[in-house]
Amino acid sequence: MKQRVFVTRKIPDEGLRRITEKFDTTVWDSEEPPSIQEIVQNAEDCDGLVTLLSDPIGPDVINKLPKLRVIAQYAVGYDNIDVPLATKRKIAVTNTPGVLTETTADLTWALLMAASRRIAEADRYIRDKKWDVAWGPELLLGTDIFGATLGIVGMGRIGQSVARRASGFNMKILYYSRTRNESIENELDVKHVDLHTLLRESDIVTLHIPLNSETHHLISKAEFELMKEDSILVNTSRGKVVDERALYNALKEGHIGSAGLDVFQEEPISKDSPLLDLHNIVISPHIGSASKNTRAIMSRMCAENLIAALDGNMPPNIVNPEVL
Ligand code: NAP
Ligand code: GLV
Ligand code: GLV
Repeated sequence: MKQRVFVTRKIPDEGLRRITEKFDTTVWDSEEPPSIQEIVQNAEDCDGLVTLLSDPIGPDVINKLPKLRVIAQYAVGYDNIDVPLATKRKIAVTNTPGVLTETTADLTWALLMAASRRIAEADRYIRDKKWDVAWGPELLLGTDIFGATLGIVGMGRIGQSVARRASGFNMKILYYSRTRNESIENELDVKHVDLHTLLRESDIVTLHIPLNSETHHLISKAEFELMKEDSILVNTSRGKVVDERALYNALKEGHIGSAGLDVFQEEPISKDSPLLDLHNIVISPHIGSASKNTRAIMSRMCAENLIAALDGNMPPNIVNPEVL
């Protein structure tokens, strides 16, 4: 008898086809995510589960699925999954690292440039029919990227790819990470500093750490107060790494200049979020890895992880290898 798999959303065909060919598969066929109850109902008796970062996979899911052997996440971040509980239950958890690094660094760079040069505001200005004078000596003045100081929080895969882009812009690069990264220090002119020094000295701060209990609200009121008045915060990691109320106040009161955000405390962002009333942010709806090519590769990688685990092999990208 074929093993059973539930896929919580239609992922690109490259991986989905392999899954449906090999397993007795149910694919959630709505754009609206399944509720916890709907995940449990559909995944009942399943050996494998394919999840998105927006699926909350906690005790109320894991404890209700006695046959489950693998949770294959279609993303690199897996803060939505209770990994300690999965490990206790001997369920493998897999993710899709590496293949989305450059695509996410590109989006980070796009937000960094858009925030520095007020691109979203400039676009709105013209569409709002406000462009009445040909050229304004002081129209929409931004801040320079070339030659500025960039602070990278989390020098992992994406942080390093952002650093490489920054070196092409002749930026001074500071970074803060739990551990020093000697390979990037040998490759580029980057300096490891403590978080407070980074916040005080950077013109642009960009976040590339995973969300966990140590990084939750890492950037809050006190941290914004250390930042330069004209500085820019870019966040393509996870919304909850930043205290969003403190961010709003910092932007409103001018503790920092602007922000470029791909991730939010609550996703989708509430239609009433006060952030949406600020002119000095540029925002995107969690599309860091969203290129056609990268999503296809992520789908294939996710399928390979799932298949390996259900065949009893070590998945290429396992988060908790101790279960096998
Ligand atoms: P990664 O290679 O694991 O890099 C994370 C870095 O953060 C590592 O250098 C790690 O260093 C550091 N770190 C972890 N905990 C820390 C802490 N408490 N304090 C300081 N540094 C800490 O991960 P990645 O592939 O670059 O991805 C990073 C994150 O980006 C993901 O977890 C995900 O949340 C997010 N992401 C978002 C999108 C999007 O669509 N917007 C796309 C992809 C990824 P050490 O552990 O060595 O100390
Ligand atoms: C996207 O946010 C990811 O973690 O892959
Ligand atoms: C601007 O277009 C310039 O020529 O300086």
